[in-house]
Amino acid sequence: MSGTSLDGVDAVLWSPNSGVTAHRFEAFDPALQSQLLRLNQSGPDELHQAALAANAVARAYAQVLRTLLEEAGARPQDVSAAGAHGQTVRHRPELGFTVQLLNAALLAELTGVDIVADLRSRDVAAGGQGAPLVPAFHRAVFGRPDADIAVLNIGGMANLSLLPAQGPTGGFDTGPGNVLLDTWHRHHQGPAFDAGGCWAATGRVLPDLLARWQSEPFFSLPPPRSTGRDLFDWTWLQQQVLRSFSPADVQATLAELTAWSIADALNRAQPATNELIVCGGGAFNLDLLHRLQRHLPQLQVVTSDRRGLPPMQVEATAFAWLAARFTAREPGNLVCVTGAQGPRILGALYPA
Ligand SMILES: Nc1ncnc2c1ncn2[C@@H]1O[C@H](COP(=O)(O)OP(=O)(O)OP(=O)(O)O)[C@@H](O)[C@H]1O
Ligand SMILES: [Mg+2]
Repeated sequence: MSGTSLDGVDAVLWSPNSGVTAHRFEAFDPALQSQLLRLNQSGPDELHQAALAANAVARAYAQVLRTLLEEAGARPQDVSAAGAHGQTVRHRPELGFTVQLLNAALLAELTGVDIVADLRSRDVAAGGQGAPLVPAFHRAVFGRPDADIAVLNIGGMANLSLLPAQGPTGGFDTGPGNVLLDTWHRHHQGPAFDAGGCWAATGRVLPDLLARWQSEPFFSLPPPRSTGRDLFDWTWLQQQVLRSFSPADVQATLAELTAWSIADALNRAQPATNELIVCGGGAFNLDLLHRLQRHLPQLQVVTSDRRGLPPMQVEATAFAWLAARFTAREPGNLVCVTGAQGPRILGALYPA
């Protein structure tokens, strides 16, 4: 799995019986990171650049996968399949496409493992958003018969899974997760992210700026809804004049916007939630977690390690689980989440 934060690749070794037995993360090389970031926008020689980037992503995935297997003492032939997400550079379900760059043929060639790739396109072809795909997996690991649970993944974007004790599973993107925080932090402070949210915690929320950002139409769209860097990026930030503000105050306001957008969406979609389980890199942002808890005093906010799966393993495990669904020729999408016309088998196989 490599998500919209563009931080790198997470891989897990997972089986239905033993759960996760190994995890490996490797950061993207900065040159590949910039190349992928550029490909989120139209530019010259785009097809050529995209093909080269898809090769580079495959090499990065192969490196992580090989090291993961080595460390776990497993051989490629022991693995039934690898679910390989690829790098989202465009997500336009309303135009009928979503693009996750990955040369899956090269990945199969380099690893000797069956690769299940392109996991979102079939849902989009069936009229769905192609996202989020993780709620069915979240239900399988975190669902409870006696409580209404919500699972929040804070990656580049943030998405919620709704797991009521009774009734159908829900899920949708709430908007930005780490993406705006990372972008602003990198621009003013240098490093890729605000560790622990410490910088944001030094700032003061700017109420007028917050109100202008809250009026973004995406936040009032009903589910099914999904988003990406197509909307929330540097250009979106620059729609407001930020020059006159202290950068730390802007960071605090972005953190508040992120927490508010999640809490507001949860309060509307599943007001009686008992527990919010947080995963993804944003689970390490203590400032963001405090803001979330302040907006949601009626429920308990916990990180996913407290419920058996470390925050950085959840999304990667979901794609292993989706690959297992593909291998069993079982549908991976939930119609009530993505809005597709029906359950569909997700992915395409590149045999080892
Ligand atoms: N210690 C930390 N403090 C604050 N933020 C952190 C910390 N560690 C990671 N993060 C944030 O988490 C991000 C990476 O999270 P993650 O890998 O879940 O996102 P992603 O790759 O976009 O995933 P996906 O799109 O699949 O949800 C980093 O870019 C950073 O913003
Ligand atoms: Mg990541």
